[in-house]
Amino acid sequence: MSSGCCSGKPARGATIDRLFRPQGVAVVGASTNPAKIGYRVVENMVRSGFSGGIYPVNPKGGELLGRPVYASLREVPGTVDVAVLCVPADHVYPTLAECADKGVGHLVIITSGFSEVGNLDLEKEIVQYARAHGMRVLGPNIFGIYSAASRLDATFGPGGILPGHVAIVTQSGALGIAMIGKTAAESLGLSALISVGNKSDIDESDLLEYLAEDAATRVVLIYIEGVKGGERLVRTLKRITARKHVVAIKSGRSKRGAMAAASHTGSLAGADAVFDDIMRQCGVLRAESVQEAFHWVRFLSDAPLPSGDEAVIVTNGGGIGVLATDACEKYGVPLFDDQTILKQTFAEVMPDFGSSKNPVDLTGQATAEDYARSLEAVLERDDMNAVVALYCETALFDTEKFSVLLRSLYERYKERKPIVFSLFGGERIERILRELRVEGLPVFGDVYEAVSALGALYRSWRQQTATAETEPPPSELDVAGIRAILSRAGKEGRGFLLAHEAAAVAERLGLRMPRSILARNLDEAVRAAGEIGYPVVMKVVSKDIIHKSDAGGVALDLETANEVIDAYQAILQSCLAYKPDAVIEGVEVVEMVKAGVETIIGARQDSSFGPVVMFGLGGIYVEVMKDVAFRAAPIDATTARIMIGSIRSYPLLLGVRGESRKDVGAAAEVIVRLSQLATQCREITDIEVNPLVVYDYGKGVVAVDVRILFGSQGGDAA
Ligand code: ACO
Repeated sequence: MSSGCCSGKPARGATIDRLFRPQGVAVVGASTNPAKIGYRVVENMVRSGFSGGIYPVNPKGGELLGRPVYASLREVPGTVDVAVLCVPADHVYPTLAECADKGVGHLVIITSGFSEVGNLDLEKEIVQYARAHGMRVLGPNIFGIYSAASRLDATFGPGGILPGHVAIVTQSGALGIAMIGKTAAESLGLSALISVGNKSDIDESDLLEYLAEDAATRVVLIYIEGVKGGERLVRTLKRITARKHVVAIKSGRSKRGAMAAASHTGSLAGADAVFDDIMRQCGVLRAESVQEAFHWVRFLSDAPLPSGDEAVIVTNGGGIGVLATDACEKYGVPLFDDQTILKQTFAEVMPDFGSSKNPVDLTGQATAEDYARSLEAVLERDDMNAVVALYCETALFDTEKFSVLLRSLYERYKERKPIVFSLFGGERIERILRELRVEGLPVFGDVYEAVSALGALYRSWRQQTATAETEPPPSELDVAGIRAILSRAGKEGRGFLLAHEAAAVAERLGLRMPRSILARNLDEAVRAAGEIGYPVVMKVVSKDIIHKSDAGGVALDLETANEVIDAYQAILQSCLAYKPDAVIEGVEVVEMVKAGVETIIGARQDSSFGPVVMFGLGGIYVEVMKDVAFRAAPIDATTARIMIGSIRSYPLLLGVRGESRKDVGAAAEVIVRLSQLATQCREITDIEVNPLVVYDYGKGVVAVDVRILFGSQGGDAA
């Protein structure tokens, strides 16, 4: 199939706003058969009360749900901003010309049978044609779109979507459709729901840019299987999380899961550790499960941001109070700790055997009124910033009265302070939980769920109040010089640099490597050692001897001139015994690197996110414990320091057991340089400094070994 009219520069695509606020929507492939998707989409549009024109299109004509069916798009009388295509895959391309003639802005292609099953060419041709005619493509292989802004439900989901403040962007169709039912069952209101499917054109970044500006959207929930255009996604996420909460669920955490995700959507799931760290870098809250994500978005969409750190737990049961304390530690919710103030605050309601320490335990004897008064006392105080209210059903409580008190307290304070409730008990409690949930109160059946939601709010709040991450200013890297080194190696057919070439790149990056001098005879070796300063290391230099240690070509820790003389002769002797015809150019005399903390710093071109930097401590920390951190490059020194501080073994750099603090700033500077190199020199596919020895504060770092792999220019087209 030839697009015929796709030559030349693509026309500007329609603004994404038209997709969410269309004047008219046509359904191409509308059917009178209720078993077909083309029927269900029209039915949902009618039922949702879409404010614009609804135009079913089918060559048979006739009538559908009280609307005329148009034989072709050209016959539609009004403006058509969006065309929802529900025709089989081989009918999609032939309908594009009439969409273009009608001035359609967005194609919502529900149809399956494209790149997800290997039919990539047809998908590409459709996108090419669309872009050349000023149209954007959502999908294919999707269930449609819902936009509360125009009360448009153009999906074949179960309907009944409630308008609200949560936007869902999902790559999985089935999960997305199931979410429609779940949000309705849990009374969770949506501002938008968009199925992105194969992401042939419109992707998460396009949608996030719109949702960032959409006043109704307070929280975005994204379900991602694989990342395409990761560099743009990182930029967009950083912008939106400065103002709104973003929760991500990503499948493919396990190796098997990643394989399933890859075959499902035709896009590779990015390595999970990289995804996890980069989402954190962008201020995105990553949920473990759909249920956890639902708990979070429900709470985040209504809760005010806290005005400070410290929360108070109020409970009528000691056990769940302790559980909540554990949960607060796990989810990063600090507890108010001024014992004098706590005692004063709860003096009136606290029985002798209760505890006003935080958790505040009113004991099982507390009445509904005691409980409500205690909550009110916390909510009134400016220095107590959030409340975790726990309740275990007892006979002393009038549960009905209690639920009335909770409602009224929540109503009064919901805009002033974050509150989570967790109630335990029998049938009556279960009923109250359901009722309160429907009314929008942040009630949870489990204390960990409640605190996890509050923890998510705290993390997002910290992100929003933190200084925005800045990209480093354009560096003065000698990119031309580095490229010349790569080009010379490339001409020899190599995709890697030899040690001296890598050292030359390191020098251009401003990395300090051990001093090294080539000595061609014994006198030069002794002079070189004197110049460098003892102790030194000596290594044979010969193109014929690759594995120097095996040949006896390396001597370590030489402390005197005599040791250098002995080592020089021993190296020559054993190398010639190892390979009698070897041409030996001389011996490299190298500074013996002093002990410090060994770290590894690397950068590479990630298939999802483009240039990415890595930091970890050497040896078992990286190999066994996988204690490493990743960031999308480029990054500045502040982000590099945060990155270093995020690994579990960070205390070793801070100085433990009498060790002094290490020069973290110098290590951060190396990360910044590598991040700049990976961004500006995309043909470097991998660079690793291993080890980078970090010395005491102020004493800097030494790059003992630098390895560089290169290939053709990589990077992200986005
Ligand atoms: N213009 C207008 N109407 C047309 C055209 C055209 N060019 N060509 C065909 N039609 C009509 C057909 O006549 C039919 O109408 P009818 O019922 O009056 O005869 C209607 O369009 C639909 O065409 P069918 O051939 O009956 O196709 P069907 O409805 O069976 O399937 C569909 C079409 C739904 C697009 C299918 O090909 C498909 O891709 N299904 C999978 C969809 C999907 O799962 N997407 C991912 C969602 S996410 C998830 O996983 C849940």
